Amino acid sequence: MDDDDGADLGLAGLSPEFQAMLGGMAGHTAHFATILDRRSQMSKEAEKKKDDEVYLESYAELGIHEEMLKDVPRVEAYSKAIEHYGREWAKLGDVSAIDVGSGTGLLAVLCARAGACKVHAVEASRLAHFLQQIVEANVPSGAVQVHECLAEDFTLPEGEAVDVIISEWMGYFLLFENMLPSVLSVRDRFLKSGGVMLPSRARLLAAPLEDGIEGRLLEFSPRHRHVYARALGDCDCL
Ligand SMILES: C[S@@+](CC[C@H](N)C(=O)[O-])C[C@H]1O[C@@H](n2cnc3c(N)ncnc32)[C@H](O)[C@@H]1O
Repeated sequence: MDDDDGADLGLAGLSPEFQAMLGGMAGHTAHFATILDRRSQMSKEAEKKKDDEVYLESYAELGIHEEMLKDVPRVEAYSKAIEHYGREWAKLGDVSAIDVGSGTGLLAVLCARAGACKVHAVEASRLAHFLQQIVEANVPSGAVQVHECLAEDFTLPEGEAVDVIISEWMGYFLLFENMLPSVLSVRDRFLKSGGVMLPSRARLLAAPLEDGIEGRLLEFSPRHRHVYARALGDCDCL
């Protein structure tokens, strides 16, 4: 059936008046379907906005950041990488960087102390307010500039780009938080050609699990049950 040109509606044999009425209804149904489509699209966007708000609110509390700052292997891995590159930055003299999802500013502060002249610390959660105070206390030179915004909305003056983009974007099961696209949006717009991404690659190791043990495994950590159930739920082996 083609609603636009009024072609065969399967109405043969009915009175012209009745055909006209049904034809009109078909047009109305098509129009209504378009409205419903648009509405469901809108609610998906609204849902995503709500998800983003809940996600960012979870980073507004200091507790989660305390846990991350106490994560010694994590902090040491970043510190070593920054120290390694920092020797070069100090020699070059005018290295700039963006810390995507700066949180308490750990990586931005380390970069500035290692020799980066200008670091943009981008943070979308309410924690950005404290971030300003933290960087002022730890980098009095003013080399770290705080931007309270989504990475996707972050901009630099026309033509400006940076030498380094650093971020701690990894979530459960590596990609769970879905923060990588935000980091890549900054990379694609503001990293100089030949610039450095920290980190620049990641490995996700996975092993198949025997059917039936999911319950026992997930009971092991009820607090993270929803996380693993969502992250692993689509795997056939579970
Ligand atoms: C895993 S934490 C890392 C915090 C800090 N860089 C560190 O290493 O301790 C990720 C941070 O990124 C922020 N974030 C997540 N998505 C963001 C986005 N699209 N734009 C800006 N900040 C974002 C979160 O609010 C959170 O503070």
